[in-house]
Amino acid sequence: MKKDLLRLSDLERADFDLIFQKAKHLKQMQKDGIEHTPLKGKTLGMVFDKSSTRTRISFEVGIFQLGGVALFLSSRDMQLGRGEEIADTAKIMSRYLNGIMIRTYSQALVEEFALNATIPVINGLTDLFHPCQILSDLFTIMEYKGMFEGLKVSYIGDGNNVANSWINAASKLPFHLTLACPEHYEPDAEVLKTGKRQAIKGIDVYRDPGDAVKDADCVYTDVWVSMGQESEKEARSRIFIPYQVNSDLLRQAKNDAIVMHCLPAHRGEEISAEAMNGPQSVVWDQAENRLHVQKAIMEILM
Ligand code: CP
Ligand code: NVA
Repeated sequence: MKKDLLRLSDLERADFDLIFQKAKHLKQMQKDGIEHTPLKGKTLGMVFDKSSTRTRISFEVGIFQLGGVALFLSSRDMQLGRGEEIADTAKIMSRYLNGIMIRTYSQALVEEFALNATIPVINGLTDLFHPCQILSDLFTIMEYKGMFEGLKVSYIGDGNNVANSWINAASKLPFHLTLACPEHYEPDAEVLKTGKRQAIKGIDVYRDPGDAVKDADCVYTDVWVSMGQESEKEARSRIFIPYQVNSDLLRQAKNDAIVMHCLPAHRGEEISAEAMNGPQSVVWDQAENRLHVQKAIMEILM
């Protein structure tokens, strides 16, 4: 049966381990210049409803390196954008392609796509989740810290798609997750409720970022204004000021804490230039790992 990647809560612990193992192997092969083309002759359709730099490039380059090709499909230019039904589109695409990656607003749309497609569907970000991002962030944490057991990951800022996927991950892997979010900007209530019930080492939500990052091994942030929230920019920019990841905040984490950001970053907003460019920042490795982890996901699913 075909498998999709729609949200991290659908994965088993063994799936995470398989993806990390494969990504490590693929990364090493690429560094050693070894050609590896298990997806020769295969095609990935990439449907974009929102902007992207990392996701688009890493999927496109990733499938090329694995021997296949990607098609960039802006939903604006597809009949989907003119009202063709999602179910019909998914069925048609399944007749041409070997996999679909979608970045859009509604998680329900991605799930409907997956239900009607006979090929794997990968969630490349919705308003609710960003599973590929967090898989590659977890892989980066493994590279730096060697294991999840005993780690404290602190997410500071907006309770958005990235935060929700972190909550999903904490239900499957043994790290302690803390979040600090302003009032009314907490993660999705349902995701948080389930996450707290299932978390292996616990999930704690604080108001004060200092409380969340105390002794953290990893301090993570994301933009204050996600795609689709542009009209809220002014209010958010004011409300989130105390939630900046900067040197003062980092002093409260462990000395060897790593600083992560899924990018794009806005220096001076959710992260100071000093924290972003400083010695604790691993953001460039984190971004590179999108490529290796996405290749692992595609090789496994396709
Ligand atoms: N982090 C991330 O998904 O980046 P893009 O929006 O550039 O794809
Ligand atoms: N939360 C951000 C992530 C971008 C990769 C957004 O949805 O815009």
